[in-house]
Amino acid sequence: MDATHMGKDLEKVLYTEEQIQDRLAELGQDIWRDYEGKDLLLVGVLKGAVLVMADLMRTLPGSAPMDWMAVSSYGSGTKSSGVVRILKDLDTDITDKHVLIVEDIIDSGLTLSWIRANLESRSPASVEICTLLRKPDAAKVHIDCKYVGFDIPNEFVVGYGLDFAEQYRNLRDVGTLAPHVYS
Ligand code: XMP
Ligand code: MG
Repeated sequence: MDATHMGKDLEKVLYTEEQIQDRLAELGQDIWRDYEGKDLLLVGVLKGAVLVMADLMRTLPGSAPMDWMAVSSYGSGTKSSGVVRILKDLDTDITDKHVLIVEDIIDSGLTLSWIRANLESRSPASVEICTLLRKPDAAKVHIDCKYVGFDIPNEFVVGYGLDFAEQYRNLRDVGTLAPHVYS
């Protein structure tokens, strides 16, 4: 792929870099208010949440540690099945910690509901979720998500950490892919 033409592969931009930053700043304020005085640990899910984590954590006015998990979801094609395998586990013991999972997108919700249950089994003080994007129409399970950046239509999106076959993660905006990319 020609990197200089990455922007042309988008059909439409849903959220610009600036809109994303503004929304993350608002979420960061809410998070800091809610977790003041608590032992907060930010847990990112690789790889999609890398950029959300980097920008969200820098909106926080005080120090907060982060840790990472990588999982693979068994499923047919691009659909996740909810059967999850841990590829990389946390480095941190989360006992008595207030865990905030940082995600790029909630689609069916199957992956995240598995991750949440897995973390809850480790005796943390609490587990909450912050996601930049959520597709309400794609939900297969209900997930209590305390911090949501934007609800979006049930379309495949790329950019800002989100990929199509590992491409486009470094696009600054979030958008839908143009049909010529698929063919
Ligand atoms: P579930 O369905 O379990 O899956 O909530 C969540 C994971 O699926 C990926 N995903 C996407 N990736 N554009 C992407 O680039 C999308 O529109 C999209 N929808 C789901 C993503 O890895 C997410 O963590
Ligand atoms: Mg993800």
